[in-house]
Amino acid sequence: MAHESRFEANAEGYARFRPRYPDSLIDVVVGLIEGVAAPAGAPVLDVGSGTGIFARQLAERLPADLRVIGVEPARAMREQAFAAGGPPNLAFCDGAAEALPADIAGVRAVTAATAAHWFDAPRFFAEAERVLCPGGVLVIAEYVRAVETSPAARALEQFLAEEGGPKAYVRPDYAEALAGLAGFADPGIWTEDVEYALSVDAYVGLALSSSHARPVVARLGQGAAEEALAAIGRRLADAGGTIAYGYRFQLFWAHRTESG
Ligand SMILES: C[S@@+](CC[C@H](N)C(=O)[O-])C[C@H]1O[C@@H](n2cnc3c(N)ncnc32)[C@H](O)[C@@H]1O
Repeated sequence: MAHESRFEANAEGYARFRPRYPDSLIDVVVGLIEGVAAPAGAPVLDVGSGTGIFARQLAERLPADLRVIGVEPARAMREQAFAAGGPPNLAFCDGAAEALPADIAGVRAVTAATAAHWFDAPRFFAEAERVLCPGGVLVIAEYVRAVETSPAARALEQFLAEEGGPKAYVRPDYAEALAGLAGFADPGIWTEDVEYALSVDAYVGLALSSSHARPVVARLGQGAAEEALAAIGRRLADAGGTIAYGYRFQLFWAHRTESG
């Protein structure tokens, strides 16, 4: 399945059920961005911006004269992003990680939030190097199911593996990739575990917003997939109907060398 159609199908559930990034993570990214000595007006590019969750949080936290431009290839995701609105320093455009808009250059930061595992990494890194100003920062953010500490996350991972087969992507080792990346220096990482209290409906909605749920729905049908997930959710819920669900949030970054 092409990534455009995969994400066209997911857009509404994604906008509704995916979490915001923790303020602590946004604070770290804002600190990295504000630490770049870029010319005034140099924007931030958020690649694979989807429904705009991360780009919107960044734009809200950065100074109002610092623009955040979300680059997103899937039209349905861009439509959700436009519909959700945001501050005036936030914009979205069509484009892909491997071919960022040709007229964009001299940006202070390139970010990719829970998106870079879909990219052709060498081509994305080459594009990031092209568009970043000297000293500019490349930041990869992501959240992954905390399968080691959260039974609810582990149960979902198991269900998707059993019913949906292998994932459509292999998650890169970003720490290793950025540490050895030509044209970049000063790599760093940051991690935080967050637990959410979900209703059974939210657990099902979150599960179905995963790209890995597409083959499950194709095989079982929407109704049976929902019922199977709801049954898992009811088993995991406490007496009040709440499920403790864990995500691990991670950041990886490196700075474009001054010499370019
Ligand atoms: C899991 S969503 C993340 C969206 C958003 N960054 C967030 O944090 O909520 C991944 C997004 O990456 C986009 N994507 C997939 N392949 C891409 C590529 N090659 N270039 C740019 N975006 C891509 C998808 O269309 C999707 O909107």
